[in-house]
Amino acid sequence: MAAGLASFVVIANRLPVDRVFNPDGSTTWRTSPGGLVSALEPVMRRKGGAWIGWHGAPDERLRPFEHDGIRLVPVRLSTQDVIDYYEGFSNATLWPLYHDVVAPPQFHREWWDAYVSVNQRFAKAAARVAKRGATVWVQDYQLQLVPAMLRELRPDLQIGFFLHIPFPPTELFQQLPWRRQILEGLIGADLVGFQLPGAAQNFTRLVRDRVGHKTQRGTVSLPDGRTVVARAFPISIDAKSFEELARSTEVETRAAEIRSSLGSPKTVLLGIDRLDYTKGLYRRLRAFGELIREGSLSVEDAVFVQVATPSRERVDQYRLLREDVDRLVGGINADVGRIGSQPITYLHASYPREEMAALYRAADVMVVTPLRDGMNLVAKEYVACRYDDRGALVLSEFAGAAAELKQAYQVNPYDINGMKATILEAVRAPERESSRRMRSMRRTVLDHDIDAWAQSFISALSQR
Ligand code: G6P
Repeated sequence: MAAGLASFVVIANRLPVDRVFNPDGSTTWRTSPGGLVSALEPVMRRKGGAWIGWHGAPDERLRPFEHDGIRLVPVRLSTQDVIDYYEGFSNATLWPLYHDVVAPPQFHREWWDAYVSVNQRFAKAAARVAKRGATVWVQDYQLQLVPAMLRELRPDLQIGFFLHIPFPPTELFQQLPWRRQILEGLIGADLVGFQLPGAAQNFTRLVRDRVGHKTQRGTVSLPDGRTVVARAFPISIDAKSFEELARSTEVETRAAEIRSSLGSPKTVLLGIDRLDYTKGLYRRLRAFGELIREGSLSVEDAVFVQVATPSRERVDQYRLLREDVDRLVGGINADVGRIGSQPITYLHASYPREEMAALYRAADVMVVTPLRDGMNLVAKEYVACRYDDRGALVLSEFAGAAAELKQAYQVNPYDINGMKATILEAVRAPERESSRRMRSMRRTVLDHDIDAWAQSFISALSQR
């Protein structure tokens, strides 16, 4: 496959495609809705790029293939790898540890062993497809050992790493029995990107204190003379295409349809999240339930639509959360609902972008209240869709997005009374006030879109 060697390689746990099962029994692939792939598509096409990742089905070995002009290189995960590396170390150790231990992280040695061996597999796959001197961009917490493993195999490569989730405070990170190995894995990169400057600082401090390398501001100096830069690159969305979608007649018609099927209430509040314990769904719905119970909002006038996209359903904490939220919503609707008006419309489903845009258009108040979140792109998508400058965003201080969206109605999601007061403030805000805030947030999101993000990372990497 020499002719096919790639000069730009992305490595992520998942390939940017979903499999589609056709009625005639055949299967095809569809580009997944995430923004990362569309941002990288032009670079991939221009430079002859390849994307290395898992295709989502355990035990299946697939040959590299091309989709929409991008070369995809599937990595095989066995059923046991899925249990130990994906559900285990990635999502029951690292995920809760990096999100402020909002659920207790579990430390198991066999999960760690699987994490090492799967990271090694990804690194080898990249070493095989990368051209001499190629740029390789490793994504996210599932693959933190890949930079050093890949450098060992291919010292000629330029390696970048970006962490999409928070990097924890040093006190929490130090709980990890394999803390040193993770830090050494990451400093295999030339550039390590984070969502926020504080995360980059946590990382460099740990590298200094735990690994013993010299650091100055965001630069780590290694004994062999190599340097590693750690910096923030807050990720964004494809804002223009969201706005375009929101302006389409189909989406506008669908938004009107949604409002009328909800009984045309005065206020539609909306939450859209993966069903994840970091997203703060439980406290948010409790706050709303109390507002209705106490009569601050009336069940005739206000409806909360909560979309919860199924996620990591075989991991215990996710199963427990689903049961808790089901019970809470059932209780609130049973207690304060009326015939023909349920205060909460709860949808355990995943929707295409068109339906999401229609929901954003239908919502007067978007409620995004994670307990901890690397960025939260839903908040930015809502803003991108509000081309009429209407609508209010209630946003957790603990989402990365809060650093940029300063004009949102910010809340501490642990403070239920505070959250109730802020939701009411957003519901009752005079239109002039909401549009002033929305206009300013829109400027931020439209200026700093996903293209700007990808370009700034790639250009910082090329200058290393
Ligand atoms: C977060 C992570 C991604 C991950 C996504 C979906 O956004 O940062 O790396 O792909 O969640 O989770 P899943 O486990 O389904 O890949």
